[in-house]
Amino acid sequence: MSPTPTRDDHFSFGLWTVGWQGRDQFGDASRTALDPVEAVEKLAALGAWGITFHDDDLIPFGSDAATRDRILGSFRQALSANDIVVPMVTTNLFSHPVFKDGGFTSNDRGVRRFALSKVLRNVDLAAELGAATFVMWGGREGAEYDGSKDLYAALDRYREGVDTVASYIKAKGYDLRIALEPKPNEPRGDILLPTVGHALAFIATLEHGDIVGVNPETGHEQMAGLNYTHGLAQALWAGKLFHLDLNGQRSIKYDQDLVFGHGDLLSAFFTVDLIENGFPGGGARYEGPRHFDYKPSRTEDYDGVWASAKANMATYLLLKERALAFRADPEVQEALAASGVLDLATPTLGAGETAADLLADASSYDAYDADTSAEHGFGFVHLNQLAVEHALGAR
Ligand code: GCO
Ligand code: MN
Ligand code: MN
Repeated sequence: MSPTPTRDDHFSFGLWTVGWQGRDQFGDASRTALDPVEAVEKLAALGAWGITFHDDDLIPFGSDAATRDRILGSFRQALSANDIVVPMVTTNLFSHPVFKDGGFTSNDRGVRRFALSKVLRNVDLAAELGAATFVMWGGREGAEYDGSKDLYAALDRYREGVDTVASYIKAKGYDLRIALEPKPNEPRGDILLPTVGHALAFIATLEHGDIVGVNPETGHEQMAGLNYTHGLAQALWAGKLFHLDLNGQRSIKYDQDLVFGHGDLLSAFFTVDLIENGFPGGGARYEGPRHFDYKPSRTEDYDGVWASAKANMATYLLLKERALAFRADPEVQEALAASGVLDLATPTLGAGETAADLLADASSYDAYDADTSAEHGFGFVHLNQLAVEHALGAR
């Protein structure tokens, strides 16, 4: 039985996800355009809680003020009539050809000023709609040719842009935080801030980094051959997991944006395990939206679109049920203890112990029997098999 989501599950979807018409590098749209009001109604009926969007998803680029007001009016009405919130807003700095060499880091200063203005105007809209997170995905911030970009200056301009937006948020008194979304490539050959780790290192250099965190996407880390759950973990550890984009990806290829769990299912299990159960030894927890950033496959008609939206939530809830059962299983707790997983929370040094004290402690080195210690196995395979059996519903 496929579980039914409720508002309490805090599932949200990008307007550009269910609204994706299937246009790709090689083919035209395979679906007609979706009215944002219909998206709100359909998602609400499926049990979703929130909807997110790029400025241009809702208000077409270049719309006049009257059109903007009319669209926003009917959208707001749909939100309240369907009990749907806007937890996150983001800016499109990639579709219009003016952004072909980037927004904040375009070699053209006029484009940089235009991009920054577009983002600042969108910050006002995000605050107006009560969003808590402002995502920045720099899809066009990058290059195809190493000689075409002064990378030092590009990072300076990126920092200038993000700091300007963050200081604007503070000056306006908005209750809004920025979340940078890493991606290694596509549409640029190489994108700046390609992974969670790069983004965290960049944030540490910001003047207003206190309100800047990350929005890691499953497929983007996996495109770089990295472990998504590890990316989330380090972001949590740094106090920077402000938002997340869940989806599916099958190995290192183009950005597939599949349904959550339709890529690496076991990895998805451990992602949900981290989100829902937290770290085994405690630590920071993620309390934000469970946001899906996927693309309903181009092969699907609108029945398939809604079935795929539902599939994201159902898979998440099934994995949640399995992850809760995994941690609640006494055999798993025993295996975690036997594997030393729970011991890792114990500091390596004793309270007040210094490096000199450690060196003076013969039991830590001279009298330590490394060969005997090396004989014991950690039992990680048994632990992992328990996870597999729980994930498969065999326990
Ligand atoms: C992608 C990205 C985008 C961003 C979105 C938010 O698939 O490459 O995930 O979908 O998340 O544009 O700005
Ligand atoms: Mn993606
Ligand atoms: Mn995304």
